[in-house]
Amino acid sequence: MAGSDLAVGQGIKTKILPVDASQIGQFVFDDSGQRFQGDWELKLSESSDAANMKAAASQLQNTDIPIAFPTETVYGLGADATRSSAVRGIYSAKQRPSDNPLIVHISSLSQLRSLLVSHEPSPSSLQPPRDSIPPIYHPLISRFWPGPLTILLPLPTPSPFAPEVTNNLHTVGVRMPSALLALALIHLAGVPLAAPSANASTRPSPTTAAHVLHDLSGRIDIILDGGPCDVGVESTIVDGLTHPPVILRPGGVSLEMLRQCPGWEDVKVGYKDGAEGGTPKVPGMKYKHYSPTARVLLVHGQFDFEQARQYLNRQGSIGVLRRKTWRDDVRTNGEQRDEGFFDPRTEQQLVTTEAPQPPMRSASLTRHSQARLMDGQDLIDVWDIALGPDITDISRGLFSALREFDHMGVDVIFVESVDDEEGDTAAAIMNRLRKAAEMEIKM
Ligand code: TXA
Ligand code: MG
Repeated sequence: MAGSDLAVGQGIKTKILPVDASQIGQFVFDDSGQRFQGDWELKLSESSDAANMKAAASQLQNTDIPIAFPTETVYGLGADATRSSAVRGIYSAKQRPSDNPLIVHISSLSQLRSLLVSHEPSPSSLQPPRDSIPPIYHPLISRFWPGPLTILLPLPTPSPFAPEVTNNLHTVGVRMPSALLALALIHLAGVPLAAPSANASTRPSPTTAAHVLHDLSGRIDIILDGGPCDVGVESTIVDGLTHPPVILRPGGVSLEMLRQCPGWEDVKVGYKDGAEGGTPKVPGMKYKHYSPTARVLLVHGQFDFEQARQYLNRQGSIGVLRRKTWRDDVRTNGEQRDEGFFDPRTEQQLVTTEAPQPPMRSASLTRHSQARLMDGQDLIDVWDIALGPDITDISRGLFSALREFDHMGVDVIFVESVDDEEGDTAAAIMNRLRKAAEMEIKM
């Protein structure tokens, strides 16, 4: 194991084990022609990457301490979904309310089918065997799996899953992630993995190993570090067992993409996030979710420093999360480039110091700069993060940016809103922002 010991917390020393997914070994597919839709095997290499994967898989099999691992959406905190004591380990590490059910992650359709049918009486030899996966999901599975889509399935009786996974529900949420590291881990562990996002409850979901370490240091043993996540927001959750089918959480697979599938033309939005109207919200009245320590204000319109100041105490500092409409000089509100102002062109680049950063793909590394404004007698620090116009860059960098503002000790974060209509993942981004934000304001 080539991992470095990075943190000692409440008893457990948390290790970050680096894994380059392309070095784990060889993925060998059956002759169905479709990667991961049929059966597959993994021939492990002799690399340290493979050794780290084996160590994690063995821990999943032999202990009740969950493993943090990257998926293409966000980092998950995984445990054997069939063992109660292992699943309880997730709730205690995350300090998650135990009535919030978990998503089960699988590495192949045959693994899922065997979990669903193993307890049913064997079908009569005269009848063709019934597929345990309801037909309504077949077009979704062939199009979006492996990938950022979770489907609700009827819970078989008796259930092969620990009751802690589903918490009295008659359904179980299942997804096949597309990240090779995640698929390999499930495959090596040989069991389905229950895995929520690997953040402490209420915090923004983690998209790097450093985020997981920050939240769960001392609470878990191993974080597999496969670099920053590609998608950056969690999977879309759909329920196809109702008529019409509904989206329970927007994510990497959009409403438009679902509507193109047979049986899903009339899919309805089944979540509420405030987009229906009724803004601005009453501060402090909502369930905390995706929240950094700083207050988050979601801004419609052009950023205006004079208005922003109203939300700040005399000596505070603000964060500005900008994408395409807000000008590059929002920090100074244009004219205020006078006394006490450090030219933002001589930007001070900050690097998170808690843990070594993994090699960053574009937009996972947010560029930030600082300006300092004399505002009457008060000095106001303005931190600026630009995620750029591309919607996929925003989804990839959003949670990371919220966490970075916390790292800089910002009091209030002003976020440039995204038009819900804009592209595939816009609804997912606005859903997370509305939950993180205390208020939506117009400027
Ligand atoms: O992208 C993802 O889905 C990530 C990665 C790690 O796979 N996982 C994730 O898990 O976001 P978590 O626990 O943070 O969110 C799971 C959501 C919860 O809101 C939970 O209430 C819902 O899924 N859920 C799970 N099982 C359900 C069920 N049977 N019925 C309705 N909602 C369910
Ligand atoms: Mg979560």
